[in-house]
Amino acid sequence: MPKTKFIRRSSAKQSVGGEVENYYLHLGSKPSPKEHIIATYRVESRFAWEKVATEIAAETSIGTWTQLSTLKAPIARKLAGRVFNIDKKKKLIKIAYPLALFEKASIPQLLSGLAGNVFSLRMIKNIRLEDLDFPQKYLNNFGGPAFGRNRVKYKLRAKNRPLIGAIMKPKIGLSASENARLAYRLWVNGADIVKDDENLTNLDFNQFKHRVEQVLYEKTKAQLVTKKKKMYVFNVTATPDVMMKRAKIVERSGGKCVMVDIISVGLDNVQMLRKANLRLIIHGHRAGHSAFTRNPRHGISYLVIAKLARMAGVDQLHTGTVVGKMADVEEDVLEVNKSLTEKFGKFKPTLPIASGGLHPGLVPNLVKILGKDIIINFGGGIHGHPSGSSAGARAASQAVEAVVKGKNIKAWANKKDNKELKQALEHWGS
Ligand code: 3PG
Ligand code: 3PG
Ligand code: MG
Repeated sequence: MPKTKFIRRSSAKQSVGGEVENYYLHLGSKPSPKEHIIATYRVESRFAWEKVATEIAAETSIGTWTQLSTLKAPIARKLAGRVFNIDKKKKLIKIAYPLALFEKASIPQLLSGLAGNVFSLRMIKNIRLEDLDFPQKYLNNFGGPAFGRNRVKYKLRAKNRPLIGAIMKPKIGLSASENARLAYRLWVNGADIVKDDENLTNLDFNQFKHRVEQVLYEKTKAQLVTKKKKMYVFNVTATPDVMMKRAKIVERSGGKCVMVDIISVGLDNVQMLRKANLRLIIHGHRAGHSAFTRNPRHGISYLVIAKLARMAGVDQLHTGTVVGKMADVEEDVLEVNKSLTEKFGKFKPTLPIASGGLHPGLVPNLVKILGKDIIINFGGGIHGHPSGSSAGARAASQAVEAVVKGKNIKAWANKKDNKELKQALEHWGS
C-alpha cells in the first residue's frame, strides 16, 4: 500500500484583510476561571509546539484542518479555544475554552469536544487529557452526589473507620437465594456493605428481581441479629431503559444503594439515574477505564473521569488500591481521592472505594497510604479464606479493627479471638 503523505495546512491562521490571524494562540494570556473550562493535555508530536497546540485548540473547539470561509472573525475570536500555556519540558499544553462552546450539563457534548477527534490526529503521536477545571457556573448545572461521603458513613455508623465491603464471588455463578444467604453470612460476620460484582446483572439463574427480594429479606435479618445498619449494592448496569427499571425495583423494595459500571453505561446514563432522584446511593464501578486511562502518554486520565463522575452524581467511586491487583500509581490514586473529597463546585464529597486484589494482610498498608475515609472491598480476600467466606469476613473486620485501634496486625492476629485473621495472614501474607 502506498504511504499516505501527511500534508496539513494550519486551520488556525485565518486571513483577515490580508493579515493572518491565529485565533487560538494566546501564550501568556490569563484565562478566567469564571468563564473558561481549562483543559490540560500531555502531548507528543514531531511538529513545532505552537503549531501542534494551535491544531489541538482548533480541533477541540471550532476549527478544522484548513481555512474556512464560514468562520467569521468575530465568532472565531469569541469561541476559539485559547492556548495560554505550553510547558515543553513537561509536554503540557493548557487551553482555555469559553463557556459559550458548551451545552449545559452535557457530559457527552463536553467529551465530544475536548476528548473527541483530537485523539485521532495524525500529526500527534500521543495525547492525553490530564485534567479539566470548570467554572462554578458550569458546575451548577450538574446534580453531584445526592448523599455523598458523609451521609454514607453516617448511615453505616462508620465515622472514624473505613467501611468493610464484601464483593460476591464467584462474580457470576450463585443463584439468587445462594447469593442472599451468603450476603447474610458476610454481614453477620462483619461486613458493612455487600455487593454485586460488575458483571452480575440479570441472569437466568440469578434474576435481578429475585435477588433484590431475597437479599433485602436477609439484610433485615442481619440487621436484627447484629443491631447494626447494613447495605447491599445492587448492580443496575444495563441499557438505560432497563437500568432505570431495575433502579426503581430497588427503590420500591426498600433498597438503598445501586451500582453502575460508569464506563460501560456511560456518564450520561449515570446523570440520568441521578436526575431521577430515586433516593438511592450511587456506587460507581470503573471496570474498563484502563482501556484509556492506563497509558500515561495517550488517552484520558482517571482524574478527569472521577471529576465527571462526581459531577454526574456518583456517591462512592472505585479509585484504586495502590497495594492490590490493579496497576495503580500511588500518586495518581492519591490525587483522585483528594479531588473527590475537596471543594468542587457545591458538590458533596464522593467516598473513594479501594477494590481489587485486597486481603486482610494488605489493610495496614492500604490505610497508611489512603487513610480511613474509604470503603475497603474484598472479593477473593474474603471468599478465598481457607476456612470459607464467614471466616473471611471475620478476618477482614479483624484487620480493619487492628488498624483503627492502632495495633500491629500480626500481634492482633495472635489474640485468641482473632484466629481467622491469623489464618488469613498465614495464607496470603502481610
Ligand atoms: C469529523 O468529525 O469527522 C470532522 O469534523 C471532519 O471534519 P473535516 O472534514 O473538516 O476534517
Ligand atoms: C472489583 O470489582 O473491584 C473486584 O471484584 C475485586 O475483586 P477481588 O477483591 O477478588 O480482586
Ligand atoms: Mg469485580
